[in-house]
Parts: sequence; structure tokens; C-alpha cells
Amino acid sequence: MTRKHNAWFKDSIPLIASENLMSPLAREVQNSDLNNRYAEGLPFKRFYQGNIYVDQIESMCEDLAKDLFRCKFADVRSPSGTVANLAVLMALTSPRDKMTTVSTSDGGHISHAKIGAAGVRGVKTYNYPFDEKNMNIDVEGTKRLLREVKPKVALFGQSVFLFPTPLDELKDVFADVGCSTWYDGAHVMGLIAGKRFQDPLREGIDVISGSTHKTLPGPQHAMIVSDLPRPDLDGKLRRGVFPGVTSNHHLHCVAALAVTLAEAKEYGEAYADQIIRNAKALGQSLHEKGVDVLCEHLGFTESHTLVIDVEEFQGGAKVAKDLEDANIIVNKNLLPWDSNPVKPHGVRLGTQEVTRLGMKENEMEAIAELIARVVVKGESPDRVKPEVASFKQQFTKVHYCFFEGEEAYDYPTYDGDLA
Ligand SMILES: Cc1ncc(COP(=O)(O)O)c(C=O)c1O
Repeated sequence: MTRKHNAWFKDSIPLIASENLMSPLAREVQNSDLNNRYAEGLPFKRFYQGNIYVDQIESMCEDLAKDLFRCKFADVRSPSGTVANLAVLMALTSPRDKMTTVSTSDGGHISHAKIGAAGVRGVKTYNYPFDEKNMNIDVEGTKRLLREVKPKVALFGQSVFLFPTPLDELKDVFADVGCSTWYDGAHVMGLIAGKRFQDPLREGIDVISGSTHKTLPGPQHAMIVSDLPRPDLDGKLRRGVFPGVTSNHHLHCVAALAVTLAEAKEYGEAYADQIIRNAKALGQSLHEKGVDVLCEHLGFTESHTLVIDVEEFQGGAKVAKDLEDANIIVNKNLLPWDSNPVKPHGVRLGTQEVTRLGMKENEMEAIAELIARVVVKGESPDRVKPEVASFKQQFTKVHYCFFEGEEAYDYPTYDGDLA
């Protein structure tokens, strides 16, 4: 089954906005003996022996993170974005504190909500008013909400994240209210590292958390960064991660993250730039082919993500399934105005992975045509699928990394039936 999965993805166009491909070098260090080891605690202050090289790898990874995000503090031990968020919640809040967030229907992540990590911590959440036309929080409404609620923490960041959060406009209110500020950059870590999108730590944000496998093309893992001159906060964040919500962390992922950050330092700006160019180009082509891409008046997006409204084509579930049958991989998504949460009318698309495979604006035009044939013209997915596969076979190598051009889908497998 694993071999079948690998072969399928080699023949498919990956457009899930939260996924990416690791570089060959990152994969190599991830698939090492580090995968078998334990290292509770911090570099050079461990609870286990056997960490002589692990300590060096982890402190190198922290240094690379601090360099790339231009900050004083980095913790690279969280095994996922949700776990990092739990750790930040442990550090910044107590049960029953108030926290303001973007609602899940407006693109916020479940870990920001009562049904997720925020609820596990027992914090009470209040949602920012959302400007559906511009797909962003409503600034004046947000100012009013912050003044009214006086939250302990104001959390920003989304899973459907088209435009930078207007943090500069809110800075004064943060100071008046005296809240901590937290930005979940899971989706846009690679864009921030590439000096695109926005620079939250320079725009009034105390702490950023984020997965390291979306626009930052690293291992399934996460990190936390901060630039405040506050050792007390650093200590709380450290304790939030361990012993708060982890015991061992995933050392092979820390090594793979170190490689990813070193590669981002070298190639991250060009990569982030092309991701955004591709997203805009894909948005424009889809729009010209009769797909309702949100926010045409704003150039569709300033990130890797696009949202399309497919109500007229029988909704998000049908469109996502038809595209999957044609080997084009996307996900259905709620639109802010959807009334039925189990029947979303949207589809979310991301360009970070196809960009990683070396695609540029011309290829976005080709992808838009393949999507439109299925969605707008109603062509059978079975007819489009072989064309998707032959298009994709031209793009199987990883770019924007050391050893550029190595095959993305070559995984060693054993002969026999086990794989
Ligand atoms: C904004 C945001 N935060 C957190 C997460 C959770 O990340 P992970 O899947 O690494 O737990 C996601 C996942 O997509 C996300 O979009």
C-alpha cells in the first residue's frame, strides 16, 4: 500500500495547502538512528545519556531558527503545530483565562477553539469579527472586541490564510489592553522566513508557533519563536513544551528541521517569492476559466493559498472528490458564509508543493486548465487523469534545497510483499 501511495503521488498534482516535500538531505538525516533515541530536556542538560551529538544538532537547529526569524528565543522540540500550541497555552494562560481568536469558520485552526487545544487548556475563546469580502479580520471590530473582552492573550493566524493580519493597526490596542500576543504561523512559516507575507515579531507579536511542514518545507514537526527580552517567558515556553506537553521529542525531526532551516536561509526568499507568484497566477487562470476565486479585487491572495467557491458546481465535497479521481489533490473547506458546517461550499488550494517541484507561472495555467476541465466543463475525471499523470511526470524533482534536482518520490523499498 505504501508503494502504491508513493506511485499515486508521483502521478498526482498536490495542492493541499498544508503539505510539502522535504529535501533529499533532510530526508536522509530524518531516516537515521536519531529516530530511535531519547533526549528529554534541553541541550547539554539532559535526563538521558547518548546525546553528545543530539545536543549539538538541537542547539544548531535553535541557532538557525533564531537567525532566520531574527529573534532571541527558539524552541524546536514540539512534534506538531497542535502540540506547540498546547505548549504556548500552558505558558501564556491559566484555565478560565480569556483568549481572542479567529473562528474556525473564518479560517482559524481547531487548536484555537473550544473543541481543540484551547478547550483542553480550559480558556474561554472570543472570535474576532471577520470581513468576508476581504477574507481578513475586521480591524475596527477587532479593536472593539479587544477593549471589551480584555483578553489575557490575543491569538492570530489561520489555516485559511490569504492575507497578512493587520497587526500594525492593532499594536496600540495590545498595549492599552496589556494582553500577550501570539501568532500561529503554521501555514506561513516559510513565507515569513522568506521575508514575504509579514514579520509578526516586528509587528507587535510576542510569540510565534508553527508547524514546520507547510510553506516551510521541513519534517512534520513544529517550533516556537519569540523576540521578547523576557527570560521568564522563555522559561515558561520551555516548560510548556517539556514537561508540559511532551516527554521525549523527535530527534530525527529536529535534525531534518535543522537542514530545512539551513536550506531556507539559502533559498527561502526565492522559494517564498515563487510560491506567491504561482498562487496569484493560478488564481488568475482559474478566474479566467470560470471558477469563482475569492478576493479577485485583492489579487486573490498574498500567500500560498487560494479559496474557490464551488457552490454552483455542487459544493466542496463533490468537487474535491472529482478532482481526486483525476489525481488532483485538494481539500473541501468551509467558507465564512457557509451555514451548514458539514456541507462546505469552498475548496482550498495551495501552491507551495508544486512550487517546490519547480513549477512556475506557465504550469499554473496548465493546472488551472486541468481543474477547469473537471469542475467547470464537467469532463470525466477518468479522461483527465492520464493527462494529469503525464504532466506531473515532468515535475518529480525537489528544488530550493541543497542537492537540488534529486528525485522527490524515490524511497528505498524492500523487495517482497512487506512494503
Ligand atoms: C493555523 C494552524 N495551526 C496549527 C495547525 C496544526 O498543525 P499540526 O498539523 O502540525 O498539528 C495547523 C494545521 O494545519 C494550522 O493550520
